[in-house]
Amino acid sequence: MTVPASPAKVRGETILGVDELVKHFPITQGVLFKRQIDAVRAVDGVSFELRRGETLGVVGESGCGKSTLARLLMRLETPTSGRATLEGRDLFAASGGELRRLRRNMQMVMQDPYTSLNPRMTVGDIVGEPFAIHPDAAPKGSRRQRVRELLDVVGLNPEHVNRYPHQFSGGQRQRIGIARALALRPDVIVCDEPVSALDVSIQAQVINLLEQLQDEFGLSYIFIAHDLSVVRHICDRVAVMYLGRIVEIGTEEEIYQRATHPYTQALLSAVPVPDPEARDRRTVIRLTGDVPSPADPPSGCRFRTRCWKAEEVCAVQDPQTVPRAADPHPSACHFAEVRTDV
Ligand SMILES: Nc1ncnc2c1ncn2[C@@H]1O[C@H](COP(=O)(O)OP(=O)(O)O)[C@@H](O)[C@H]1O
Ligand code: SF4
Ligand SMILES: [Mg+2]
Repeated sequence: MTVPASPAKVRGETILGVDELVKHFPITQGVLFKRQIDAVRAVDGVSFELRRGETLGVVGESGCGKSTLARLLMRLETPTSGRATLEGRDLFAASGGELRRLRRNMQMVMQDPYTSLNPRMTVGDIVGEPFAIHPDAAPKGSRRQRVRELLDVVGLNPEHVNRYPHQFSGGQRQRIGIARALALRPDVIVCDEPVSALDVSIQAQVINLLEQLQDEFGLSYIFIAHDLSVVRHICDRVAVMYLGRIVEIGTEEEIYQRATHPYTQALLSAVPVPDPEARDRRTVIRLTGDVPSPADPPSGCRFRTRCWKAEEVCAVQDPQTVPRAADPHPSACHFAEVRTDV
């Protein structure tokens, strides 16, 4: 009997599709009879596609919904509404065996390597834990060897398999987290600010490792960061988030060279420029004020309370994230234009 070949994995095809995803956390009042009085609109209508083999950066200030988006995709939160498909299968409708298969195929690397690893477990047990949950991924007798191989792949000494997390540096701990995410050979890894807690010198090493693993294993990444400088060299495309929405999305070149949304332009303005002449020439935009509360977002354009270009229409018309005359990539601004003073 011939075994049918598994469907070919074609680089560039859509692997993860997200459509109008919404997560509202209810705000309740009362002790015995809780009633909902409002909601935190953490993720409020997010759509994008992730293609096989690419890295999509998701960037925005703290509180704009990045981690909630990651947790929804990992099925750690239930969406209020919206759809997502992983390799064509409905991510939120899956249960039982199908959910286990989907879960195996999408893994996550957390932000904080100090709190995301159980201090009482050895590195070997941490990296091998996924095999206990998915026993069919590695036969019992082979697991120790698989863990050693994984440690080697992420640049750690396989001899350190019996050590505890506190015996490693921050960068090494993040490598342990990456080894654990790789254990089940997923197609997609969601990295939630994987280098934000690390020293700048270590950040580049971890990013290089992620790039190297992407080539080796054909991985697709969602790479979350709070500023645009970190993701520049690893991302093929970037989605900029503000108050639960994607306000601009495009290729690395479209976002870094031809951004049309004022929020993206402000974030770019904060990216350090090494060339002193270019630094003197550019007009720096300083974002004032905090991100408004996602429980009570501004009417119309959510960025208007901090936008220096806001006009009356911005308070009444919610701009959609669509291609604009200024440039074909989607941008949620009524007055989208490329900056000329940078
Ligand atoms: N479990 C929760 N219950 C209520 N509000 C939450 C919960 N998780 C996150 N939030 C709120 O949702 C918003 C987005 O949070 P988060 O997704 O963590 O943003 P980011 O990762 O971009 O910093 C924040 O206002 C946060 O306080
Ligand atoms: S729509 Fe108006 S307020 Fe919103 S970013 Fe554009 S100019 Fe600013
Ligand atoms: Mg976060």
